[in-house]
Amino acid sequence: TVLTRRGLLKTAAVAGASGIGLSAMKFGGWAAARPEPVVLRTARIQAKLMDVGQTRDVLTYGDAGMPPVLRMRKGEPFAARLVNAIDDPTTIHWHGIRVPNKMDGVPFLVQPYVYTGDHFDYAFTPPDAGTFWYHPHCNTLTQIGHGLTGVIVVENPGDPKFDSEVVLNLRDWRLGDDGQFIEQFRPRDAARTGTYGTVRTANWLDQPQYDAPAGGLVRLRVAITDVTRIYAFRVDGSEATVMALDGNPVPRRFSPDALLLGPGQRMELAIRMPDDEGAIVSLRDVRGTKPKVLATLRATGSSLKRDIRDLAPLEANPVAEVDLTAAQHISLALSATAENIPSDGICGSLGYSFWAINKVPWSGDTSDPTAPLAELKLGGSYVIDMENLTPQSHPMHLHGMSFKVLSSSTRPVQPLISDTYLIQPNEKVSLGFVADSPGDWLLHCHIIEHQKSGMTSYFRVV
Ligand code: C2O
Ligand code: CU
Repeated sequence: TVLTRRGLLKTAAVAGASGIGLSAMKFGGWAAARPEPVVLRTARIQAKLMDVGQTRDVLTYGDAGMPPVLRMRKGEPFAARLVNAIDDPTTIHWHGIRVPNKMDGVPFLVQPYVYTGDHFDYAFTPPDAGTFWYHPHCNTLTQIGHGLTGVIVVENPGDPKFDSEVVLNLRDWRLGDDGQFIEQFRPRDAARTGTYGTVRTANWLDQPQYDAPAGGLVRLRVAITDVTRIYAFRVDGSEATVMALDGNPVPRRFSPDALLLGPGQRMELAIRMPDDEGAIVSLRDVRGTKPKVLATLRATGSSLKRDIRDLAPLEANPVAEVDLTAAQHISLALSATAENIPSDGICGSLGYSFWAINKVPWSGDTSDPTAPLAELKLGGSYVIDMENLTPQSHPMHLHGMSFKVLSSSTRPVQPLISDTYLIQPNEKVSLGFVADSPGDWLLHCHIIEHQKSGMTSYFRVV
């Protein structure tokens, strides 16, 4: 359990970095999410508008503060009613959870909008344990940008024992000097890396601190729910090892040193707290010129003297093994484009077209969708050979099915199971999967401006 948090955004950090004043400081004055040791089976999730401190128009699920961490259990049914209390149609997508297509939350493709005042009942049984997240799939630049991102923990009762668990929801906010939201994107940035936020938070706080037992083992679950930012992680002050990425255990644990993860991705770290009471462990983002402390852990009590090497491996999730001898290959090229994008603009089109998959730009939000990238046979094995022809990195997310990372043209890769791959400029990557779930499944960049200005498509599994 999380024991404490350290109150408000710190003036110095906020003002120093971006000129955000005192009004933005109040923004963090809400309680940090405390992971509840309760398995949620049913929940009522209300998307609603509220004010946080002096920042107006913040959106959340639930009653106040950050959207709650939803706890589910592998193999046990979960149900939730989305009640729309905001001024905009919405849906929920359960990022990374292999749900039936009808529960996937993509408007037009799989479900109708949930209009203001309406509700929608989601129900599914998560087949995989791990760290996932939930967010709308409509008007996402605004709705995610204004707060609608929550972390999901799917527990496995067979998991190794930790002394503490901390969940971090990492994201930015685009606020002006007066602490109010400013324009969510600039077209010239959308055509490049995406538009960065001005205030950076973990659990809606600037550098929150959590207590954990000295000499104990902490399971740190981190989800990047930002619309734009790619992180390079480092842990200082203790031994740390990556146990899982994107909801699946890694075949070989490794140090998180400078691990690059993009929007939509998650990691689970095992951290062995220092033995000395009061010692601090910090999680930092070391990408770019201004390294940033994201959150810290403080050792409390006398040492539990645990050993990180005693941690049993996490159990693999029941993801079907791709048959490489029979697999059919699908080539995908990510590119820039100037071609016009078809759009009816209902679900948050940006009105710009910068990106394309196999030369077709689509925003994913038209009532008359573009043709699927390919029609896949239910149960068939496939390998996506994806090539990035752009100078930017793209966290490419596949809905509904997990893939295995088979090879990369630029680096050695572990055979990770994942739902999101951060492809680098000039990289070619092969991702294998079994098309074992029928329906239309989106594939898109999770830098939302890229997604909404063309880098979206889908597979049809029949
Ligand atoms: Cu996390 Cu299509 O989304
Ligand atoms: Cu992208």
